[in-house]
Amino acid sequence: MSIQNPKWSNEPNKYLVEYIEDLKKGTVLDLGGSDGVNAIFLAQSGFDVTNVDKDAEALRLLASYSKDISLEINTVNANLNEYNIDNEYDNVISFYTFHFLDKDSGQKLIENIQSKTRLEGLNILIGFTDQGEFKLNNQKCYFVDNFLLDIYKSWEILYHSKFTGSTKSGLSQEREVLVAKKVVS
Ligand SMILES: C[S@@+](CC[C@H](N)C(=O)[O-])C[C@H]1O[C@@H](n2cnc3c(N)ncnc32)[C@H](O)[C@@H]1O
Repeated sequence: MSIQNPKWSNEPNKYLVEYIEDLKKGTVLDLGGSDGVNAIFLAQSGFDVTNVDKDAEALRLLASYSKDISLEINTVNANLNEYNIDNEYDNVISFYTFHFLDKDSGQKLIENIQSKTRLEGLNILIGFTDQGEFKLNNQKCYFVDNFLLDIYKSWEILYHSKFTGSTKSGLSQEREVLVAKKVVS
């Protein structure tokens, strides 16, 4: 059972599924989680999940669906360009959302994510790089060159890759996947 006609994804992200056992038990913050396909999977796997998105309708769908199946998921309606993570979380994830954010805000958000992740917790970030057929807006936060690896250089990298695939709109664009564990505070 899942939300009917989800806005973006029908299934939990494959990297999240693959690394679910490596997440630190406890809390997960999902930034740009939309109607919560990943939040539902995480909550069903025993995590206490907070799903943030600016799309109020997506959050309403998630709240209504999770109530129907008696799952508790926290939803926060916020603009990530201005968002400050005020609690610590065991893990933070964000999939395919950074390219919507302003470059400076996206970079600041990653620093904020890192500082609010508890020791031994994971960050799983997936986003578009600047390589491909998108008409790039240089003011937006694409993962360029070694930006992600550089900013995570003091973390343990469990997985990193770049690969090209087709987007919902049929454009070919490179994506970058990073799974990193916080090993120094
Ligand atoms: C491509 S969808 C990805 C959804 C989900 N993470 C997934 O992988 O299925 C991007 C999400 O980012 C959200 N988003 C875009 N800009 C945002 C912003 N400035 N603040 C908060 N959420 C934003 C959109 O509303 C949308 O739900």
